[in-house]
Amino acid sequence: MKRVVVLLSGTGSNLQAILDASRGEDLGYEVVGVLSNRSKALGLEKAKAAGVARAFVDPRPSPDRESYDRELAAALDEFSPDLIVLAGFMRILSPYFVRRYAGKVVNIHPSLLPAFPGKDPQAQAISAGASQSGVTIHEVDEGVDTGPIIAQERVDVALGETATSLAKKIQRIEHRLYPRVIGEICARLGTQGRIGGTP
Ligand code: GRF
Repeated sequence: MKRVVVLLSGTGSNLQAILDASRGEDLGYEVVGVLSNRSKALGLEKAKAAGVARAFVDPRPSPDRESYDRELAAALDEFSPDLIVLAGFMRILSPYFVRRYAGKVVNIHPSLLPAFPGKDPQAQAISAGASQSGVTIHEVDEGVDTGPIIAQERVDVALGETATSLAKKIQRIEHRLYPRVIGEICARLGTQGRIGGTP
């Protein structure tokens, strides 16, 4: 079993989907810990309810991004993670962090990257008049939503679609796709020792 640690800042609906799927079937991994930069993140409550170890890593004492990421790394290393899964973690990771965990960090983004990176991608898709959007799971590199793409799934943008309705459609895909792709990544970690690419 590969050891997965989830980093989040918010609701944690993806965490819940990942937990449910990994417990309901043999996907080859276990969520061993959840870390958050927000003490009140609902995702931490979900971890608690599921009996998963969790911690709030407070950003306030850290003077800069790298010093926070050193604290985060210390908390992460307690869990000896094989894979670090970002699921709504609303901080940009420093080059220090990305290099330290090179090839071990994945993110999910609610657009078809490279379209609509960064904030509010659903609203970006609506304003651009896109006829399709979707979900991208990618390896994390030093850019924002720029790392190598591992998996994507499309969704149609309906007439009259709003950012909110599009976000709901996209989340349904995320909840199905992310647990499966994490399983595939964990299988590849075992055989080829890296997360990306085709097996
Ligand atoms: C997801 O839509 C994900 O794509 C984005 O942040 C959102 C997190 O949602 N990166 P949740 O906290 O898992 O409900």
